[in-house]
Amino acid sequence: MARAGSRDSDALQRLLACPRCVKARLDAVKDGYRCRRCETEFPELEGIPWLFANPGVAWGEWRQRLDFAQKTLAADTARVAASLEDGSLRDSTRARLEHLRDAYTAQAEALGALMAPLELGTLEAHYATYLALRTRLPSDHGLHTYYPNLHRDWGWGEGENRRSADLVAEALAGAARDTLLVLGSGASRLAYDLHQEGAWGQSVALDFNPLLLLVAKTVCAGATLDLFEFPIAPRSASEVAVRQTLRAPAPARPGLDFVLGDALRAPFAAASFDAIVTPWFVDVVPEELSSLCARVNPLLRSGGSWVVFGSLAFSNRDAAHNYGPEEVVEIVADGGFDIPELREETIPYMDSPHSRHGRREQVVVLRARKRDDRKSPPRHVALPDYLVKSDEPVPLLEAFHLQATTTRIHAALMSLVDGKRSIDQMATMLAENGFMRRDEAETSVRNFLIKMYDEAHRPTGL
Ligand SMILES: C[S@@+](CC[C@H](N)C(=O)[O-])C[C@H]1O[C@@H](n2cnc3c(N)ncnc32)[C@H](O)[C@@H]1O
Repeated sequence: MARAGSRDSDALQRLLACPRCVKARLDAVKDGYRCRRCETEFPELEGIPWLFANPGVAWGEWRQRLDFAQKTLAADTARVAASLEDGSLRDSTRARLEHLRDAYTAQAEALGALMAPLELGTLEAHYATYLALRTRLPSDHGLHTYYPNLHRDWGWGEGENRRSADLVAEALAGAARDTLLVLGSGASRLAYDLHQEGAWGQSVALDFNPLLLLVAKTVCAGATLDLFEFPIAPRSASEVAVRQTLRAPAPARPGLDFVLGDALRAPFAAASFDAIVTPWFVDVVPEELSSLCARVNPLLRSGGSWVVFGSLAFSNRDAAHNYGPEEVVEIVADGGFDIPELREETIPYMDSPHSRHGRREQVVVLRARKRDDRKSPPRHVALPDYLVKSDEPVPLLEAFHLQATTTRIHAALMSLVDGKRSIDQMATMLAENGFMRRDEAETSVRNFLIKMYDEAHRPTGL
């Protein structure tokens, strides 16, 4: 198991609790922490506690994500190298592609070096505990999902970060200043700014993405890191890849700690915090807002403050859960808080100096004071039993049924692609075999093949 760096602080340990047993305290041991009750050992990644309910499973998942990120970078590099084989390229295009190829290569090296401690891990995923816990990280999250945030937080300077820190700091005015928790802290600049300027005794930044927290911890310790930014719409050819030296304005004051874990199984003892900030977070987690309120509530001390900051862009399939600001105010109040104060402001968002692309967002800053204690809801269930156990019948959900039909059609269609048949011939054969009507077959075959063709040509990069 990889372990480097020193234990951050005893003050942090006092706040921690087992994410599996929920309330049991953790003891510091040589290579990390151990639960006093279930005796699960939690490692550290470069001195950052790895407090996932099932540390082995989470370690394996993030290693796979790292592997995928590295393979994607290698494929991107190879594609650019193949384009460079074309002898008819303009000089300017060649120069841009060479710059991009070199940037991809350097980025792969930098990422490999930064994430090396994750590869060194030897934690085994214990199947039985996985069954018991049903832990799982969302499959749509990759190592690079919030990669541009690293550059915004530690590369682009003050502007955007200052604006966010000021709005949140204002909302926290008057809060007791002992302990602060930032849930889903990402690249963690906001946590850093609040800690630096807010006289907090102990601040904790929690996220589940090890790349973001490894960078945050490194720069907050006063070191610098060189990583490439790949802007969405580069301002010039040379800005297709920009080497950024990421750094914090100054080393963090003592008392700022980072924790790797799942916010929905937050590894903290009850009533540990005077304030909790959830920046750009409540609308990205796969949990209903009232249930999230019930998870935040017990972590706060009596009278503690919760600040919800960022967009309210809920995107649930069930529109009933895609709340507007008025509903959010009501739901938070129902969750054991005083009626929250809500303010709305328009701020720049992901406005890279190297990109023509940048957004303006109307953000909400909602401050709620804890009024009553609420019990934590039951454990967050990531997957139903039939997906975790191997011996339960898998229900024939409408979605599975539909998928089974489309898979049969796709398989039949793909088996007809032999390098000789035309769309017209394939459509006739599919109709003869009863897969679809002849009059709709041609369009369906064409659309399906176009989709496959587009997917094969879609860029994959950062
Ligand atoms: C939209 S980003 C916001 C990042 C940061 N708060 C900011 O304002 O830039 C959402 C963050 O939440 C993290 N995240 C999402 N679900 C999480 C979970 N269940 N536990 C911990 N972190 C989570 C992501 O890794 C990401 O860093």
